[in-house]
Order: sequence, then C-alpha cells, then structure tokens
Amino acid sequence: MAEKRDLLTIYDLTGPEILELLELSQRLKEGWKRGERPKLLKDMTLGLIFHKPSTRTRVSFEVAMYQLGGATTFMDAAETQLSRGESPFDAGQVLSRYLDCLVVRTYSQSIVEDMARGAEIPVINGLTDLCHPCQVLSDLLTIKEKLGSLDDLVVAWVGDGNNMAHSWINAAARLGFKLKLACPRGYEPLESVVKKGMDERARVEVVDDPYYAVEGAAVINTDVWASMGQEGEKDERKAAFRPYQVNRELLEAAEPGAIVMHCLPAHRGEEITDEVLDGPSSVVLLQAENRLHLQKGLLYKFLAE
Ligand code: CP
Ligand code: NVA
Repeated sequence: MAEKRDLLTIYDLTGPEILELLELSQRLKEGWKRGERPKLLKDMTLGLIFHKPSTRTRVSFEVAMYQLGGATTFMDAAETQLSRGESPFDAGQVLSRYLDCLVVRTYSQSIVEDMARGAEIPVINGLTDLCHPCQVLSDLLTIKEKLGSLDDLVVAWVGDGNNMAHSWINAAARLGFKLKLACPRGYEPLESVVKKGMDERARVEVVDDPYYAVEGAAVINTDVWASMGQEGEKDERKAAFRPYQVNRELLEAAEPGAIVMHCLPAHRGEEITDEVLDGPSSVVLLQAENRLHLQKGLLYKFLAE
C-alpha cells in the first residue's frame, strides 16, 4: 500500500512529480488505446462525495477507476450525514475504513482539509471554491499533447480570477511557465494566492486588459463568469465581464496557432463565442477526455506506486 498522499492543491505535488504524472498519464492513455487493459487497482474502491453538481469530474473518475480494475461509490453529500452536521473530520476517519481513496467536491477548502486530516487514505480535491487541481493537471497534459512541450510556455487567463485561475497560478509556480491573467477590477484572483505564487517564484502578471494578456500567448484559457455558488451574482457579473469574452478578435491578437481552452461547462455567447468554442483553435473536447487519462495516472500514483 502506497504512503498516504493528498491532492488538496497543486502545491501537494512538486514540479518534477507533475512532469512524471503527465508522462505516466500519457503512457496509460496510449496503452489503453492500443488495447492494454492492466487491472492496476484491482479490488480497490474510490469514494466520491460531492456537494456540487458535476458531469466530467464524476464520470471521468468513475471510468478511470473502472478501467483500472477498481470500483467506485458515489455520494451526493446532501444525502449523507454531512448534511446533518457530521464533521468532515469524522467522515474522513470513517470513510477510510471502507475506501482506498476519496474525491471531494465542495465549497470551502477547509472541508477537504478537515476530511484529509481525518482520513488515513488519500483525499483528492475534485473542485472547491478555492481551486480545481485535477482540471489544471489534465489541462497541462492537453497542452503537452497539442504543443509538444511546456518549455517557454506563455499562458493567458481571460475572465474571472476564480478557482481555475488559482490552480493555474499554483501550476505556474511549480512549473515556471509565464501566466498572464486579465480580470475585471474586483474579480482578480485572491491576493493570498498571487502572493504565495510570487513567493514560490511564479511568473504571474495580473492585469485588466485581455488584449495585453493574450499577446504572445500560445494558450488562451477562460471559464464561466459565475461559478457554482455565485448564481445570485450572475447579472452584475455579466455586465462586468462583457469585455472579457473570448471571441475571434481576441484570438487574432494571440500567437498564430494559439489554442483555446475551457474546462467546461461553457456558457456559449457569454465568456466564449460559438465560433471560437467550436472552431479549429479549440481543444475543449480533448481537455475533457484527458481528465480521464490524467486521473488514471493520479490514482495509480497515489494508490499503487
Ligand atoms: N470541468 C469540470 O470539472 O466539469 P464538471 O463540473 O462537469 O465536473
Ligand atoms: N469555475 C467553475 C468551474 C467548473 C468546472 C465553477 O467553479 O463552477
């Protein structure tokens, strides 16, 4: 049994570990496509406990575990005793007696931290208000696949300084690529996240001009303007974010051949136009697919290596 590791933020992995994980995930992806079916996690069980909706994260983890020979159990948090006040720490302790690994999607980062403190098994952050590490790790796999390398990379983030933006900052600190974020005033990433990134020598710039952010960028990233839990702010956000739409004009200001990324789900016609989302620069479906392959690598690393 591997030593307990958690993935609560990208900082839980070192830069070299991230690069190894990308290699491992790529090998598992290619092996699967060649017809290899190694049951590397036979007899192991993954639990998923979700306070928020999900399509990609849930299905890709469930299929990842199935393809590796293991089983999963999905818990809607509202139907568990967490909804009646059981502490995340106690839930973590108890679930460790049944499961080999736990993926948690929730609001506050402190909930995954408390569960991980209680749990003797690896706890993986499947998205919190603070960050979305699994998505950004698999997006790095997609970039490597499409552009060939992560060296000399310039990544632009256009839109909300949200959980995804935070994980991009964490990744920039770990891997050294340049990250330019363009966010409307008042919607920048948390200062504490930017400061920690800078302390870790991340090359991060936060500006309010989307055209400046995409200049020289090989990757343009965006995300919804109102994340899960922010539905009440939808209208005021729409007004503030309108100049931050990823559309043809903005794409033309980036490097020729730049790729466009979106973790999905997208709000078509808001943060991204149909033309760009469905166009030749978009890699959003490969991004969605790579959630599966990256998470197979992650589960193997945490449970069997
Ligand atoms: N990108 C992502 O995490 O999608 P889901 O919310 O569908 O899991
Ligand atoms: N920022 C989005 C990402 C969804 C995968 C949200 O938190 O809703």
